[in-house]
Amino acid sequence: MTVTKAPFGTMPDGRDVFEFTIENDNGMKVSVLSLGATLRSIILPDKNGNEQDILLGFDTVADYLEKSSYQGAAVGPCANRIGGGKFVIDEQTFDVIKNETDQNGNGVTCLHSGGEFSFEVWQSIIADSDSVEFCYTSPDGLNGFPGEMKVQIVYKLGQNNDLHISYKAVCDRKTPINLTNHAYFNLAGYASGNILSHVLQLNCSQITPVDAFSIPTGELMSVAGTAFDFTEPKQIGKDINNDEEQLKLTGGYDHNFVIDAADGTLQKCAYVYAENSGIVMNVYTTMPGVQFYAGNFLKGETGKSGTPMEHRSGFCLETQYYPDSPNKPSFPNCIFDAGQEFISETVYTFETMAD
Ligand code: GLA
Repeated sequence: MTVTKAPFGTMPDGRDVFEFTIENDNGMKVSVLSLGATLRSIILPDKNGNEQDILLGFDTVADYLEKSSYQGAAVGPCANRIGGGKFVIDEQTFDVIKNETDQNGNGVTCLHSGGEFSFEVWQSIIADSDSVEFCYTSPDGLNGFPGEMKVQIVYKLGQNNDLHISYKAVCDRKTPINLTNHAYFNLAGYASGNILSHVLQLNCSQITPVDAFSIPTGELMSVAGTAFDFTEPKQIGKDINNDEEQLKLTGGYDHNFVIDAADGTLQKCAYVYAENSGIVMNVYTTMPGVQFYAGNFLKGETGKSGTPMEHRSGFCLETQYYPDSPNKPSFPNCIFDAGQEFISETVYTFETMAD
């Protein structure tokens, strides 16, 4: 196992951004940036022995800052959406940034906490021969979130082509904590076109259906008999354009799936397979939900090596507390007391199948 550190670029204010590359003895390589603790590349051989980078992303700091769509980024303090950009804790209302707007430009919802964790430079150290640790302190009140929060994220690559992301956070005030990573995967390689032929299985028999602003209604909806049924392996593109209300509201899959086996320990939530590369990914997490997002908002932005990020050319599986949990008492609780530690882990494992 080796870890190397190299300059990646500089922030507009001159701060350095570094790229760390962890390589295991099979030649699998994972690289992570100190900007946004961003997963930038995952490289492994396909079934023909050709190296594939299976993550969408960019070649420069400026691109990560300007066109990001949260590519590979850590997200927090509270991932996904908060309805109305407000929540109440102990009878005090907190107004947070409303960075999603309606057609008149009025702020409506808070998405990914306004991007705070995703676009900041994190402190970084090579923690061991297989891991890199990132730390960040979120100032009290930034984007409206209460308290000063100290966050640590560790990326560790194992010899079984297993990538572990471990999250820890603690705040000095009571606050929502919901950390995730927003990697866009394309298991046939980032330049291979759309992901509609990928086969996906989600160990999830319910989703949290949403309204027109992608805020959960608070109900749980069974996937049985709907386009959302991935309980058996199914091509992502098979039903994505079905005439179903939940799909039309979001322009394709962009929903939180309720992980059936969730119990706070690592449980398998997803299996994905791309036949043209033979690459398989399995996802395990300690979190109760996973946002399956089919890259519906990608519209040709130029990514790595000049490759356009076409509509649905990458998919995300963002492990998380359910969206808008701070306003949904029936959802698993994401409000942490002052001093109470948030701990979670997500593991992605990879293998390559021969024909
Ligand atoms: C999440 C959301 C999507 C979209 C992406 C970022 O996956 O659920 O609606 O906002 O982040 O583009």
